[in-house]
Amino acid sequence: MTQIRSFIGATRRPGELGVHSLDEFNLIVPDMKVAETFYGEFGLELQPRGNRMEIRTQGHNHRWGTIVEGSRKRLSHFSFGVFEDDFSRFKDRLNNLHEPLLDAPPGFESSGLWFHSPDGLLIELRVADKSSPNEKSSFTMVSAPAGVQSAPSRTQAPRTKPRRLAHVLVFTADVLASIAFYERVLGLRLSDRSNDGIAFMHGIHGSDHHLLALAKARGPGLHHLSWDVGSINDTGLGAMHMADKGYAAGWGLGRHVLGSNYFHYVRDPWGSYSEYSADIDYIPVNCDWPGQDNPGHDSFYGWGPVTPEDFAVNYELAS
Ligand SMILES: [Fe+2]
Repeated sequence: MTQIRSFIGATRRPGELGVHSLDEFNLIVPDMKVAETFYGEFGLELQPRGNRMEIRTQGHNHRWGTIVEGSRKRLSHFSFGVFEDDFSRFKDRLNNLHEPLLDAPPGFESSGLWFHSPDGLLIELRVADKSSPNEKSSFTMVSAPAGVQSAPSRTQAPRTKPRRLAHVLVFTADVLASIAFYERVLGLRLSDRSNDGIAFMHGIHGSDHHLLALAKARGPGLHHLSWDVGSINDTGLGAMHMADKGYAAGWGLGRHVLGSNYFHYVRDPWGSYSEYSADIDYIPVNCDWPGQDNPGHDSFYGWGPVTPEDFAVNYELAS
């Protein structure tokens, strides 16, 4: 057992209190069928359960998200995973910080801890298995030997199937206050930010460069859900498939600087995005990432097409 442990490496930062994963998101949409078509074509696995749709990825049993129908599209809440023996410590921390604990929303009975972010976004802390990766996710770039055609024909190209939820980017009215909140309450750490416009936060028990990102807007909302894929080719093939199915709007292919991931964002039917993301930086459990402020013009993306004019618009806010 000791040998196995030393092979896998530490998956927990000793003595420190912090969530280990972004366990699940919950999205409300006005038309379930529209959501089912979009996320199904994107390559996710959808399973109806009662009046909900559960989202998984191929080959992975974790439920990354749930969709329910409502009057308008909005991110209703998200749940962070904690280690079982940390749960009571989190309860004490919330009490000490005078964070009012709330009931679970109707239909979401749980034994988790529910409270609001400074923007009023509903957050749950729940005991869960660690779903954030314990090591950097694999990335491949296959080059065929001379004399062999490498690329398949369009009709033979495989469908892109994301491997896992990578991160969620939410809007907030105050990025700096939100950083402080997520550090103080959830124990996330700042990976990088650009002034008060955008920030990226990671889990202390080993996670991608960001499992949560924050972008400035007039109020809360979902900017994008990011899904991990294993290659640039998967990113491009996914984008091409979505364009073929009528979802050509978006942004990519490009490469971010903060996080380093190759990206293609596909615009969803409600004006937010789902991102194919490959080769994002990883912050291991024993690494103290410096958490710097970076000039926006030099760190948003290293290369890629011109950003759509309304890329940072929060369409969840009533116009
Ligand atoms: Fe992203």
